[in-house]
Amino acid sequence: GALRTRGGPLAGVRVTVTAGPTREPIDPVRVLSNRSSGRMGFAVAAAARAAGAEVRLIAGPVALPTPLGVTRIDVETAADMHAAVLAALPATDLFIASAAVADYRPAQTSDRKLKKTAESLSLSLERTPDILAEVSAHDPRPFCVGFAAETDHLLDNARTKLTAKQLDMIAANRVGHALGIEQPDNALEVLWADGAHSLPRAPKEQLARELVALIAERYRLQSK
Ligand code: CTP
Ligand code: CA
Repeated sequence: GALRTRGGPLAGVRVTVTAGPTREPIDPVRVLSNRSSGRMGFAVAAAARAAGAEVRLIAGPVALPTPLGVTRIDVETAADMHAAVLAALPATDLFIASAAVADYRPAQTSDRKLKKTAESLSLSLERTPDILAEVSAHDPRPFCVGFAAETDHLLDNARTKLTAKQLDMIAANRVGHALGIEQPDNALEVLWADGAHSLPRAPKEQLARELVALIAERYRLQSK
């Protein structure tokens, strides 16, 4: 067929990709979430597949078709995504965390719909698990690639995340002001311990192919 599954720079590599937002329930009808479309992660999954990888895509709630030849696992919450990633870990050589995981979730989820009684309402939130940090700290660990969506201090914040989570690579993009999230175009600054590469503004599908080529290059250097 049109898909090259045998050759390619990631031939035989087992790749797990997280994508999209997560959705944290407040009550049976309300959620806490974010504006991630999942488009970058889905494009990365498709590009990894086209590069010959065996791809598992763990997706939050998004309105996107599953890329051809990719195994998709749909999840809702950060806790669900965390569990799905851990289950996939023994069969993961390369982990690409593109999901916009909610950092906080309601500390309590009500079984019943909250009624509007009081004039104001405060929600108590608790931290969700940091999926990428946990995978990176795992032994044995897959090759770990993170994303960093930042409104400011892009390179500094991304480099800090690369070090803090002990990642192999990080792809940083600017968000806000019609950039990044919810947009068909994006630009990436890709960083690793002793290098960097800018991928200029382009459609997410093209960026994903360029990013996967960079990842494959670093991955093959490290797994030699
Ligand atoms: N990530 C994750 N699990 C979380 C939060 C983030 O796996 N609970 C991953 C994201 O998929 C991304 C990377 O960690 O690859 C960085 O996410 P980001 O939101 O930019 O950074 P945080 O570490 O959450 O810090 P902050 O939001 O405060 O900038
Ligand atoms: Ca975050």
